[in-house]
Amino acid sequence: MTRRDPHSCTDSTHAAIEQAKLAFRIDFEQRKLHGRVQLHLNRPSAGEVLHLDTRELHIHAIDDLHGTRLPWKLYAPEPILGRKLEIELPKACRGVEISYSTTQDASALQWLEPQLTTDKTHPFLFSQCQPHHARSLLPIQDSPSVRFRFTAQVDAPEALTVVMAAAPGTTCESSIPGYRCHRFEMPQAIPAYLMALAVGRLDDREIGRRSKVYAEPSLLEAAAFEFAQVEQMIDAAEDIFGPYLWDRFDFVVMPSSFPYGGMENPRMTFLTPTLLAGDRSNVNVLAHELAHSWTGNLVTNATMNDFWLNEGFTVWAERRIVERLKGSAASELAACVGRRGLDKALQGFAERPQLTRLRTDLRGIDPDEVFSVIPYEKGYLFLRVLEQHLGRTAFDKLVAAYIAAFCFRSIDTDDFIDFVEREFPGALAAVNATEWIDGPGLPSNAPVVHSPALDAARRAAAAWPSEAPPLEEARGWSPELKLLFLDALPRPMKAQDCARLEALLELGQSKHCDVVCEWLTIAAASAYEPAMQRIESYLGRVGRLKLLRPIYTALCQGESTRDLASRWFELFAPGYHPIARSVLGRIVACAYRTV
Ligand code: BES
Ligand code: ZN
Repeated sequence: MTRRDPHSCTDSTHAAIEQAKLAFRIDFEQRKLHGRVQLHLNRPSAGEVLHLDTRELHIHAIDDLHGTRLPWKLYAPEPILGRKLEIELPKACRGVEISYSTTQDASALQWLEPQLTTDKTHPFLFSQCQPHHARSLLPIQDSPSVRFRFTAQVDAPEALTVVMAAAPGTTCESSIPGYRCHRFEMPQAIPAYLMALAVGRLDDREIGRRSKVYAEPSLLEAAAFEFAQVEQMIDAAEDIFGPYLWDRFDFVVMPSSFPYGGMENPRMTFLTPTLLAGDRSNVNVLAHELAHSWTGNLVTNATMNDFWLNEGFTVWAERRIVERLKGSAASELAACVGRRGLDKALQGFAERPQLTRLRTDLRGIDPDEVFSVIPYEKGYLFLRVLEQHLGRTAFDKLVAAYIAAFCFRSIDTDDFIDFVEREFPGALAAVNATEWIDGPGLPSNAPVVHSPALDAARRAAAAWPSEAPPLEEARGWSPELKLLFLDALPRPMKAQDCARLEALLELGQSKHCDVVCEWLTIAAASAYEPAMQRIESYLGRVGRLKLLRPIYTALCQGESTRDLASRWFELFAPGYHPIARSVLGRIVACAYRTV
């Protein structure tokens, strides 16, 4: 048995899936998918077994591709891995057909009652497969090292729109009354974590030469405005990386419980509605997901141990795209925000420094539980130090060559090291790459990012509360500056200073999600009574983990607010995504364990 991926039972000595044919019916009443999947293998079996990942699936029957029943068994469930499915393949077998259904506990799926959508008229279903949840959607080799093409046929209630991370095909009447059948095809080989599905009342609008935005009807206008620069972004990304190979770049604004800022599902990025600030101040998130079309979706981390290859490169590219759109002062300021996030995350992992390496060893560790910005921002700084060493022109050539060399492949950190060493011998040693990759924390040659505007805001924060920055100056600050100013303020803060702060930055009206989150975190840490109602409604309205975690953490740290945190969590947990529920549940539970 050869297992290269700590989060999958995929055996690299077995045949690998190269094509999947999926058919499933969406059952909103039972909150299940009833599925039939054909998995075609890359070579005839020599009479060995096939191991597939599953989690919380009901397997009904397994046949070969000619309809002959095959023997199979499910192993006992393991906490992170799920249940291994073992199928006995006869000699020369080219594939299997499995009929199964998902269960209510599918970790990849969230089923929403109309009440939990923006428009509250229709139910909604969406998937989130990264990092290891695809196995709760279908039996599959759920490791990013295995890539396959697929076709899908989805039967869904006819009032609803179905989108997948794939090229849409025709729709037709379903054999089930009141249902419609939607066909999709993903002609490029993708890893299982990039499979995605969303079903709900969605309208769409063409907003670029190769881009459409989908959203619930009441959000469509705002979404079309917010992301109108998408074609400019694709142009900028193509200049960096080479041609966009996925044909279309469409995206969909999800209901508020979507737990991330964005997810780079190929051809159909998923986005949180918290990006709709009305002023295009969050376009970096779309730029980020777009950049994954190369770094992540073409060149893929082989396992979550190499996650920095996906995210570090993508943050680097995101900032280059932002530089093209908004200028270098804006992208440098974004890097300052990133650096601040990195410092906080490094502090948070002070007791587990091995998790602050770029290359990690996640055996026995659930990647959802240790998710942080470290692979993003430390990865970014590492690439930036390499860029500084080689010079921009040479580094840009290296990045384009890296994409071309590893296109449609899954690679690990050693593949990256070997490649850079071949192209620029000695460069890695010159930037202390070993310390960056396999050492904890931040090496001493970490680039320092400067922003004159930020220096002023930080000086203003240091003078607070005895001195407030001039009103005109503070109100003119960009959301990033407001955020970093707030972040630098001492807490807890006296109630009167909270009130001054709120008035100074007009925080009551702010629509920028990170600014609002930072302000409510200060208010929570200060047990600032006038903000408690707003915090309550915010916690019930926002589902993005990044914007919930700091507020719950602050509430849990205060003796007078701890009970509120657990009361609100109880109240809102049913609407949170399972991943958010589990991470926040741990924060709330911890508050009681440590007292
Ligand atoms: N691929 C990630 C989201 C993800 C990572 C989901 C790991 C599950 C497991 C996505 O590209 C991402 O990084 N989103 C960020 C965007 C930000 C860095 C601009 C987010 O959601 O905050
Ligand atoms: Zn990302």
